[in-house]
Amino acid sequence: MYFTDKPIEDEEDFYDREQELRLLKEYSLKYSLTLVLGFRRTGKTSLIKVGLKGLKTIYIDMRKFEDKTAITYSNFLRELEKEINRKRGKWRNLMDYLKALKGVKIGELGIEFSLGRERTNLGDILDSLNEWAYSEGERLVLIIDEVQELIKMRGYNLLPVFAYSYDNLRNISFVFAGSKIGMVYRYLKTDEEDSPLFGRFVAKVELKPFNEDQGVDFLNKGFKQYGIEISEDRLREVTRRLGGIPGWLALYGLESVNSRRDALNEVVEKAFRLVSKEFCSFVRERGSRRYVELIKGLKLTGRWSELKRYLEIKEGNRITDAEITKLLTNLVYAGFVEKFNDEYRIVDPILRDNVDKIVC
Ligand SMILES: Nc1ncnc2c1ncn2[C@@H]1O[C@H](COP(=O)(O)OP(=O)(O)OP(=O)(O)O)[C@@H](O)[C@H]1O
Ligand SMILES: [Mg+2]
Repeated sequence: MYFTDKPIEDEEDFYDREQELRLLKEYSLKYSLTLVLGFRRTGKTSLIKVGLKGLKTIYIDMRKFEDKTAITYSNFLRELEKEINRKRGKWRNLMDYLKALKGVKIGELGIEFSLGRERTNLGDILDSLNEWAYSEGERLVLIIDEVQELIKMRGYNLLPVFAYSYDNLRNISFVFAGSKIGMVYRYLKTDEEDSPLFGRFVAKVELKPFNEDQGVDFLNKGFKQYGIEISEDRLREVTRRLGGIPGWLALYGLESVNSRRDALNEVVEKAFRLVSKEFCSFVRERGSRRYVELIKGLKLTGRWSELKRYLEIKEGNRITDAEITKLLTNLVYAGFVEKFNDEYRIVDPILRDNVDKIVC
């Protein structure tokens, strides 16, 4: 069934994305580092789950740290530990490779990495995982979803370990996914000469929202699975209102099927509550109310100079060029706004159409 409210795991429930699926699988077996990029709710997590099914994978989700101001090395290691323990039953003799490492205990509940003075070294863990994968004649794909959250890690830098693995461990590859695309690059710094990952080749799979025809086809086929038929005109209108964003379309399908009527208005309301919560959490994290005014200004104009004037009028003060650029860049990096032909615009039509209602 196409309509669900969770990331999809099975190919039969996943609409289209054939090329992206093929590329992701090919890249993750061929290259050391692949990025899966796309705005929120475009289907990145689903693409990874469906596309890499059947391969040896470890999946770490950093989304739960989104609202935190800082992440520690221990947080990351605990997540890795949890995932390894989840695979323990299936992956014979993996523990044999890990148990010799410094600070590793194997108890009834599985493996435990030490976080104290003798803390387990991530490079050593990756070495052992690599050796294990080699012995299995397989490649282990280490997936980190919402990887940009790692930028908040304090007291430890994972990039040198990733670079070490990239250069030396032939049986491990990384797949990093992120919805805050600018932040992903800001974190990985592949373009900065003094960064550990500088100059490494990075494969990319990008997920765009569905175009109008795809959106209509997705909804049409999804409703047909429930024996429901809706006119093409209506599906076109819905796809347009929801910007072709797969997550919103699936939600519309699901709510309509469950309530047995067209649920567009409820879905728009629910979606708006969700995006405005996400936006306000960004505003809180950044600590500046200016983002709230600026996003409202974006409904009126997409031009840098007019946005500057708009904010100055709102505040009754002059604002520096650098400040405006910084605010807009941060909105772009966080995935709320995109820059197209030198104009800025709000990505998600749900946010765009309802921006006046935002109160953070
Ligand atoms: N190709 C698809 N076919 C069917 N449903 C899809 C497809 N792509 C996405 N969805 C639906 O959209 C929703 C969002 O998908 P998913 O969580 O994979 O996206 P995401 O890009 O990881 O989102 P986020 O940025 O919030 O992490 C899910 O409910 C999923 O079922
Ligand atoms: Mg996701």
